[in-house]
Amino acid sequence: MSDARVIDGKAFAEALRRRVADEVHRLRDYAHTVPGLAVVLVGEDPASQIYVRNKGRQTVEAGMQSFEHRLPADVTEGELLTLIHGLNHDAAVHGILVQLPLPDHIDSHAVIDAIDPQKDVDGFHVVNAGRLAVGAPDAMVPCTPLGCLMMIKDRHDDLSGLRALVLGRSNIVGKPMAALLLAEHCTVTLAHSRTRDLAGECRRADILVAAVGRPAMVKGDWVKPGATVIDVGINRVDAPERGPGKTRLAGDVDFAAAVEVAGAITPVPGGVGPMTIACLLRNTLVAACQQLGADPPDV
Ligand code: GUN
Repeated sequence: MSDARVIDGKAFAEALRRRVADEVHRLRDYAHTVPGLAVVLVGEDPASQIYVRNKGRQTVEAGMQSFEHRLPADVTEGELLTLIHGLNHDAAVHGILVQLPLPDHIDSHAVIDAIDPQKDVDGFHVVNAGRLAVGAPDAMVPCTPLGCLMMIKDRHDDLSGLRALVLGRSNIVGKPMAALLLAEHCTVTLAHSRTRDLAGECRRADILVAAVGRPAMVKGDWVKPGATVIDVGINRVDAPERGPGKTRLAGDVDFAAAVEVAGAITPVPGGVGPMTIACLLRNTLVAACQQLGADPPDV
């Protein structure tokens, strides 16, 4: 058996959601307003439908208002932009999230650009990406890397000088994760599919964040003994051992091998996943406080 601590993302997320709910109460007393989150879903993608349903339920459980907008897969970009302009001007809406991916005929950059940066609770707008890149304190930070950072900071009192390897260069996870770790004074390597000697790069890392979407790509012997391993991957794989046609979720890290080497590691499921929605609720609360002129919440 290993000594690695398996990080309980569900418990982490539950604690964050409780803190958010407390602050929502406080804001309601202060401003007589509850934060509102609008989620826009285009099309019928089953995984996106589940995410959106969970977001709506958890928003209401945290004491906030949830607005759901479901549009057909053949909606035009113009119709979607019109909806977003309306949400930008709706005082009851403090946060706007357009579920990605969007159908191919819609330019997702144009859609994200149309969201008021103050209401961009995903942190995907170029204004928020730029603010994060230059270290501005009022950047809206993308939810998944924010959740990862919270779990990393729980393990390390001081990240200063630690070597961090981020595997994956997406705008949603890899790039903002690297910026967050750099702001914490880590020595950051942003690795990707063209990186040479990926195993060697990983082996040097005190903190390893895997976000590539390839099941079990990171092997046990790629992990430095004692490292903190954060697995962002959510990959559906065949699981014939569970019966014919059955599937299961697998991360980007070979968990069974890595848990023997790591100091701490997130499982899949039950690691990073639950933190993403909890951070979305946190960002919606922060956005509402900014828009209502209230003090920033303690979350
Ligand atoms: N699709 C997968 N992850 C995300 C996310 O964090 N935000 C949005 N808007 N869409 C997603």
